[in-house]
Amino acid sequence: MARTNKIIAIDGYSSCGKSTLAKALGKQLRYLYVDSGAMYRAVTLYFIRNAVPVDDEAKVTDALNRIHIDFHIEPDKTSIYLNGEDISDEIRQMYVSDFVSEVSAVKAVRLAMVAQQQRLGRDKNIVMDGRDIGTTVFPDADLKIFMTADPKVRAERRYLELKNKGEKITLEEVFENLAHRDYIDTTREESPLVRASDAVILDNTDLNEEEQLQFVLDRL
Ligand code: DC
Repeated sequence: MARTNKIIAIDGYSSCGKSTLAKALGKQLRYLYVDSGAMYRAVTLYFIRNAVPVDDEAKVTDALNRIHIDFHIEPDKTSIYLNGEDISDEIRQMYVSDFVSEVSAVKAVRLAMVAQQQRLGRDKNIVMDGRDIGTTVFPDADLKIFMTADPKVRAERRYLELKNKGEKITLEEVFENLAHRDYIDTTREESPLVRASDAVILDNTDLNEEEQLQFVLDRL
């Protein structure tokens, strides 16, 4: 049967403002907003806490069976829970960012997350951001956006965000983390970050949040 709910897929590089835009769209259109990166970060946090070796298939499968991820949606905030614990802040820390690309390159991890993401978009209007939403999770999305921005601008934005949260970090470290994640995200074997051929490119180097929102609304 043909799908009747609407799906907007937003993909792109790390720290391009995908989540900010997707959140604003969800609010404006009253669509469910899902941050798929937060799910990979949740798995990464579990792997770090439980010392799960990413190259041990049996241990990875066993760990995935023990992981339960939930979103708690409130009017102004969405929180992510790992096995009943609110980990929304913890997953943004650098020690998680430093390891998340390695974990999200593991095939079994991707299969589990993609299946859960597809379930979330089965019957609701949804806007989801990530790396493979328009290519793998929802190849039939109603609108696909591929976001990009100058790497220096991305690093500066992320640096300010982390500094405001009190993280002790240098701009160079943030730049390196982003470059490393870009490299792994675009070169991994499983669902690498690529633009879907039917995705619209949104370069937001010089666009403010309102302009980006309008850019998408104009294309719906
Ligand atoms: O969007 P983010 O920076 O919070 O994502 C964290 C990591 O998760 C990112 O380095 C790549 C990975 N990711 C992915 O592989 N596929 C997705 N759909 C979303 C994120």
